[in-house]
Amino acid sequence: MSSIFPSIRFGGDYNPDQWDPSVWDDDVRLMRGASVTTATVGVFSWARLEPRPGEFDFGWLDTVLEKLDAGGIRVILATATASPPAWLATLHPESLPVDERGSRFGFGSRQQYSPSSAVYREHALRLVRELAARYGAHPALEAWHTNNEYGCHVAASYDDESVAAFRAWLARRYGTVDELNRAWGTGFWSQRYGSFDEVDAPRHAPTFRNPTQLLDWKRFSSWALLELHRAERSVLAELSPGVPVTTNFMGFFADLDYWDWSAEMDFISDDEYPDPSDPLSHVLSAATRDLMRSLGGGRPWLLMEQSPSAVNWRDRNAPKAPGQHRATSFQSVARGADGILHFQWRQSASGAEKFHAAMVPHGGENTRVHREVQALGRELAELSAGDAGVLGAPVPASVAIVWDWESWWALGQEATPTRIDYLASVLEWYGALLRRGVTINFVRPGADTAAYRLVVAPLQQVGSGDELAALAAVVERGDTLVVGFQTGILDRDLHVHLGGYLGGAGSALQRALGVSVEEFAPLQLGVPTVVAGELEGTAGVWQEHVRVTDAAVLASFADGHASGGAAITRRATEAAGAAWYVATQPSAALFDALFDRVLADAGVEPAFAGPEYGVETAARGGARFVINHTGEPREVVVAGTGVSLEPFGVAVLTGSEG
Ligand code: GAL
Repeated sequence: MSSIFPSIRFGGDYNPDQWDPSVWDDDVRLMRGASVTTATVGVFSWARLEPRPGEFDFGWLDTVLEKLDAGGIRVILATATASPPAWLATLHPESLPVDERGSRFGFGSRQQYSPSSAVYREHALRLVRELAARYGAHPALEAWHTNNEYGCHVAASYDDESVAAFRAWLARRYGTVDELNRAWGTGFWSQRYGSFDEVDAPRHAPTFRNPTQLLDWKRFSSWALLELHRAERSVLAELSPGVPVTTNFMGFFADLDYWDWSAEMDFISDDEYPDPSDPLSHVLSAATRDLMRSLGGGRPWLLMEQSPSAVNWRDRNAPKAPGQHRATSFQSVARGADGILHFQWRQSASGAEKFHAAMVPHGGENTRVHREVQALGRELAELSAGDAGVLGAPVPASVAIVWDWESWWALGQEATPTRIDYLASVLEWYGALLRRGVTINFVRPGADTAAYRLVVAPLQQVGSGDELAALAAVVERGDTLVVGFQTGILDRDLHVHLGGYLGGAGSALQRALGVSVEEFAPLQLGVPTVVAGELEGTAGVWQEHVRVTDAAVLASFADGHASGGAAITRRATEAAGAAWYVATQPSAALFDALFDRVLADAGVEPAFAGPEYGVETAARGGARFVINHTGEPREVVVAGTGVSLEPFGVAVLTGSEG
């Protein structure tokens, strides 16, 4: 595998248009001093680039790019379409998005456009055309960055153009209104439609809305934004051929199905803002980094944005502890990033983000944050040039976790058996493997998992027959499968698989696991349950009545509605692996005990002999990274080697040490 970049990239969003031009030379001087390779320019510059409709002012950007180029800094040029100027809102108020109660957003913040607005699209594409024609072959240009964080604030709009586009999308999807009626189950509550023209967005409503309508609205809204990216991308392909195009994802972002989006990226980019005050935030950020690598099919990706210290958008914004920024930056490199960029280069003096940390803080270069930035830039440059072979290298993973946006959307709907936080729950599964130093790829439902010894499917509530059969196939081929509760309940129209949960009567998945599920018995919030047997401990969230046909019961519920029933089962197969079913949400300790057994079944050798809380490891190229995310010194043994780590310390083991 090779990198899209000549070295590990380092830098950040650069907004010179917020500053007097007298600052620009100093910016380049400081960038060089901080080993910056790359600046992302122009993300919010539309109003400056096109001060009046059709009147473009590129002089300032010409100068900025010249200065950066002369300083040896490469540029990721934004298409600047993320926030249209005031004149668009004034001339075309219909381009502003509308919320589900029909209220139109105003100008004065950002991202105030409807994804389906024809006039927004026309103006955005004209700007992209102008930019691409002018800078498409610029010597400093390294990549294009379309828009910014699509859907971050407005993931769906309920305006008339959006509703018309939704109807057209539904007509393409279903062909006939009868087919839509079938899929949406409109026999229920008198919801039957006579034509596509009667269908509306799922607006504010008296009570529960149609679940499949809600799901299709999510699918449509993710698609509508992706269409905007596609349209920009095709202009760039025409006028700036050969220059890679990306946009910045937002990790496990709830509103966009990034499995669909990733195919449209020349490389994956991500923005991540782990909460420095949350001792478990490294679990989410490790998982996010693994997701980004997985979205790119294992290829290196770019950390497009992170804060060098505090953000300004939580209720309480803790700064990063000394060293903590280095730890999370190395976490990205260890998990496949070929570049570490930030939001933003120079901390704003005005505007809504003036209290957000930046690489050059208000206090200037002689500050803790800037010194840490300089040191990190130097270190990454050394790592990039050294013999560890990290740049461009893949990150081997022998375990896959199924991640499904549509299950997230379905589990998050109203009128479900219980409130389940899909992401939080999956992270508990992920965390148990992270604690053992096992590297994970995320896979889409139905994906080919032949490369994995172990496949884990937690809470995959939605799955077609084929997708569920793909899980069963893991067992048939002799690998190990672990399935968590609320898997295989609904098909892709959100209709129940009838005849016993887990895929319906006699499904391949029921046979593979040797169980089916008869009845749910969710637990009240915060009420634990005890499980006992070969595996024992506490669990939460869920109980159910499992009918065991062909599996060993390794733990049973010791209390509650399902008392005496199976909680964890294992079906040994003739081939080497095993098929596990987990009918509850184990506590961390129970997860640790469970994965001890599961990893042994799968023949996966963990890097840590036992669970390590707060320390992670991943191998990439010729290096093994060991990262301490705690404020305490730690001693760990990684793949047989003892490693001492300072608080937030990072060890990069190479050659025989690794
Ligand atoms: C991102 C965004 C940046 C900046 C940053 C602050 O969502 O792309 O422009 O607002 O957050 O954390």
